[in-house]
Amino acid sequence: MLAQAEQSYKEALSQLEGAESTAVLEAWYRDTLGRKGNIYLLTRQVGQVDPAERPAFGKRINEIKTALESAYEERLATLRTAELEAELAGSAIDVTLPGRRSWHGRLHPATQTLRQIYRIWGDMGFQIYRSRDVETDHYNFELLNIPQHHPARDMWDTFHTVTPGVILRTHTSPGQIHAMHDYCPEPIRVILPGMCYRYEQITARSEIQFHQVEGLAVGRNITFTDLKGTLTAFARRMFGADRAVRFRANYFPFTEPSAEMDVECILCNGSGCQVCKYSGWLEILGCGMVHPNVLRNGGYDPAVYSGFAFGMGPERIAMLKYGIDDIRYFWGNDLRFLAQF
Ligand code: DAH
Repeated sequence: MLAQAEQSYKEALSQLEGAESTAVLEAWYRDTLGRKGNIYLLTRQVGQVDPAERPAFGKRINEIKTALESAYEERLATLRTAELEAELAGSAIDVTLPGRRSWHGRLHPATQTLRQIYRIWGDMGFQIYRSRDVETDHYNFELLNIPQHHPARDMWDTFHTVTPGVILRTHTSPGQIHAMHDYCPEPIRVILPGMCYRYEQITARSEIQFHQVEGLAVGRNITFTDLKGTLTAFARRMFGADRAVRFRANYFPFTEPSAEMDVECILCNGSGCQVCKYSGWLEILGCGMVHPNVLRNGGYDPAVYSGFAFGMGPERIAMLKYGIDDIRYFWGNDLRFLAQF
């Protein structure tokens, strides 16, 4: 019996050393020291041993059991460490690798320009007033002093809807009438940004949709001097403090007198280049004193109230500022263009 125990002990030890994984080791434990393991079973057989040999056998079998238990613990610790190390080595992070670049979204150049315009007018006390892109002929033209068949309608090629008299606004100017209807008889200081639509051939210089930012100030004693001073202040903030501006007489049906404002070319500083067509000046916006008919259509008595209005194109301003030579880039959704801003 003792010889058998020694033999089992030897075998168990060599199997233990041969166990190369914790899974194999667990199986070894089950077969050796577990409830049906051979060594465990031997400890249960002490009673069958010859009484004279019993104490010696009992002592020895306990020693074997304890030795195997501690050999098992030691082997388990070794294998666990080895397995953990292997796992870590397999999924190691190389901290010297350059990180993955994350892509940042950015604002569209038209939006950036719009926001810059909002900020400047906001600082001067102008609120944003929005009106809808779908307009009636009445608001888009007639109330702005442009009757049916008036030759000035040629300035705005129009998208018509299937509903007679309902069109896509060709400019933000109809917002002036909406604002006046809302505010009358209070004084007004608003800008009216929004998308406009024109039935045009799309070329490098003209698009069928583009933004405008309209402005309107109405009150008592508003003069052309206020118009010039306010627009000059805007141009200085938008294009630089020393940038010269000039006003040229022009014609718009909804303002009288009407003008256009130029700024000294921001690319060549007035010395003449391709963008300013060697004139040294860039045309930035149209403006004028609100026509008495328009004031009346808005509900204001032109004998008491006066006002000025202006309209500018942020895409045009962005084109001049960044030297963009084709307006089609704006709605072309080409990331190679958009990622530059
Ligand atoms: N609505 C004009 C256009 O689309 C721009 C404009 C000119 C607006 C003069 C104004 C203005 O308010 O006073 O061409």
